[in-house]
Amino acid sequence: MNAPIGVIDSGVGGLTVVKEMLRYLPNESITYLGDTARCPYGPRSKEQVIQFTWQIVDQLEKMNIKMLVIACNTITAVALDGLQKRCKFPVVGVINAGAQAAIKATKTHDIAVIATQGTVKSGAYENALYSLYSSSNVTSLACPRLVPLVESGEYEGKFAQNLVAETLAPLKNTKFDTMILGCTHYPIIQGLIEEVVGDQVHVVSSAEETAKQVKEILRFQHIARTDKKPPEYLFYTTGSVPIFRSIASNWLPLKEINVKRIKL
Ligand code: DGL
Repeated sequence: MNAPIGVIDSGVGGLTVVKEMLRYLPNESITYLGDTARCPYGPRSKEQVIQFTWQIVDQLEKMNIKMLVIACNTITAVALDGLQKRCKFPVVGVINAGAQAAIKATKTHDIAVIATQGTVKSGAYENALYSLYSSSNVTSLACPRLVPLVESGEYEGKFAQNLVAETLAPLKNTKFDTMILGCTHYPIIQGLIEEVVGDQVHVVSSAEETAKQVKEILRFQHIARTDKKPPEYLFYTTGSVPIFRSIASNWLPLKEINVKRIKL
């Protein structure tokens, strides 16, 4: 099936999942929609996140996607079940993938999760981790300042370094051997996070596991792209095209980034 896979996020964070999809699914076309103009979703109510998500999904349905990847933990936490029930195509979230990555990495089962307020409040990571290993010892921290930092594109340098250190300070006396980047924006500043937590901690995200799950679903449902022509990558943002393009070109191994502005 040659239709594109739809990938959604509140902004540029889902590009961290796209990067792994390019690695694991090099023959698939991708249509990405980031709601940058209304980002962050983390502090918003559950009802509002669900409402915004349906606006995004309605657009992608019109573009005839064959599958949907919710490359956003905040949306996954509150909208995955509803989307899976109502969409005619397969829908994958990122939280189970993130929990699986952590369970594979941890030795002590002391796991820290950093995420948006919405994701932390939902308890979705705790639930996913407990269902994989019931004696997991999970500490969650909401980090509302990190998404605006990434979206600004100003995440290199002293200011960013200090902000990440201040944000993670509450975990100073907490014991954990694995940290989940429970927000798809955070792998973009993974280097800064690793500087603070030290190299004895495994820092994991959901991106790679999600890409593997997508590959499995395409195979299982017989909907992998068979076209011999190169795949197409289209990026839509509701916000600034130049900022989106600059972050996407830094992050993705693509020669050209085709970004368009879209109204929801
Ligand atoms: N990238 C998103 C996540 O994984 C959302 C960030 C936000 O909009 O607050 O949670």
